[in-house]
Amino acid sequence: MADLRNEINRRRTFAIISHPDAGKTTLTEKFLLYGGAIQTAGSVKGKQTDKHAVSDWMELEKQRGISVTSSVMQFEYEGYCINILDTPGHQDFSEDTYRTLMAADSVVMVIDAAKGIEPQTRKLFKVVAARNIPIFTFINKLDREARDPFDLMDELETEFGIGTYPMNWPISCGQTFKGVYDREKKCILTFSTSHGGRERLSAIECDIADREKLDGVIGTDLADELCEQVDLLDGAGNDFDMDAVRSGKLSPVFFGSALNNFGIEPFLESFLKMTTSPLVRQTISGEVDPFDEHFSAFVFKIQANMNKAHRDRIAFMRICSGRFQRGKEYLHVRQGKMIKLSQPQQMMAQEREMVEEAYAGDIIGVFDPGIFSIGDTICEPPLKVQFKGIPTFAPEHFAVIEQIDSMKRKQFQKGMEQIAEEGAIQIFFLPDSGMERVIVGVVGMLQFDVLKFRMQSEYGVGYSRMDLPHDQIRYIEKCPCDPKNLTLSGDTRRVVDVRGNSLLIFPGSWAINWALENNQGLELSEFNRW
Ligand code: G4P
Repeated sequence: MADLRNEINRRRTFAIISHPDAGKTTLTEKFLLYGGAIQTAGSVKGKQTDKHAVSDWMELEKQRGISVTSSVMQFEYEGYCINILDTPGHQDFSEDTYRTLMAADSVVMVIDAAKGIEPQTRKLFKVVAARNIPIFTFINKLDREARDPFDLMDELETEFGIGTYPMNWPISCGQTFKGVYDREKKCILTFSTSHGGRERLSAIECDIADREKLDGVIGTDLADELCEQVDLLDGAGNDFDMDAVRSGKLSPVFFGSALNNFGIEPFLESFLKMTTSPLVRQTISGEVDPFDEHFSAFVFKIQANMNKAHRDRIAFMRICSGRFQRGKEYLHVRQGKMIKLSQPQQMMAQEREMVEEAYAGDIIGVFDPGIFSIGDTICEPPLKVQFKGIPTFAPEHFAVIEQIDSMKRKQFQKGMEQIAEEGAIQIFFLPDSGMERVIVGVVGMLQFDVLKFRMQSEYGVGYSRMDLPHDQIRYIEKCPCDPKNLTLSGDTRRVVDVRGNSLLIFPGSWAINWALENNQGLELSEFNRW
């Protein structure tokens, strides 16, 4: 059996985030190419083709030609065992996208050099920042016209409130892109569009103090500019501080071009050195050391409908400590029962494989006969812990969903409740209204499609949906009167959650201010719970 410590030490588990089109898929693909996990570019995800990383599980995915669920890929590179958690693009955006970040130990943020920070990066960054996990930035598409790199650094620092440390610095961009200057190794990596495939780029060692050589490599004008910019970085930029990197306060920044395979390998090398193997995880009763020989894991995602006939599901869990062994019984902490995790699977590049063993840092998917909920902990006695809950995220879209067939009241209710329990949607009720009309909240519109599909195929129920204009939700923390009598703007609605808490949904931030100004003593609290 493989050595536990060694196996865990070589694990690196990270998520890739970006706004659609910044180059996340291309970068992932190049990582896999370097790891030898795939042989040809274009095989990770052809958007318009029938090749999806994980997708054949769900009919809806096939119909829409998208990958509904975030996928996980594992590959080997230079002795490391790397798990990449993909976060889907904006059309596919859902609560799963956020939850996936809970399973990662670090994050790679891909930014389009011409665009800088875009809305989806902004959304995902908030979740990452709340966990203080290391964040690495890859500024992509330097082969095209790009924004000034100092501007990009400035934007990251002011918008995200983190420090940046450029590991390399671009020498021009677009048509005149010459490559990057590696600040640590003091060498220049020259760019050529003809460079493709997996061959290694040879760096030209060139201390920028050696002006004669530098002029020869990139020309006098660009050499002048580079020297000036590097001076500025060394003088006025942040110092490199590994502790700050590891606590998510300083983001190492890399420039490159994923499409041209430029800057990927240096990125991987530095990234793997700077990131750590899985770290201790918090539980309600203390910490769990990843090297603890007892297995522990938490469920961060449940994918339903693998097999329509059986209404089966797959629970994805992140292993936090020890070694998982197929066939062994483990404790389902919430249910207090020993269970066998059946059909454990892992993604190796694009193939799904049965796993015999897996280690802290790995993600496995197991068959779920309906016993798991998001946030459940599984562990190997005598270890008995409960990992801290997965946060709930504020819905940004709401709709009234109403049953249309009164003969199917029970199925409607059961379906809505079960799907909400799984964490695929959030449900609310209008006060004094029955179960035949529910307010559904989601973070991504795709969740509505999934709901419709599942209600139809698993519960045999159709319904009507009316989208609401609301995009904000708050708990009523303190109310100066009966909530019924609050003075609210026309479109603000009061709703109740499954636990009976009162909340308000608003058609914009202005309506929140309006409510606060017109109801003295009213206190509202954020919906996101960490
Ligand atoms: P995403 O997963 O973040 O959505 O982005 P993806 O990798 O799919 O890349 C979006 C587009 O940007 C693709 O072009 C891709 O080829 C291109 N791209 C990625 N990296 C670079 C780069 O370094 N330089 C340049 N110039 N382009 C890059 P597309 O035309 O939308 O798709 P495709 O036909 O190439 O697949």
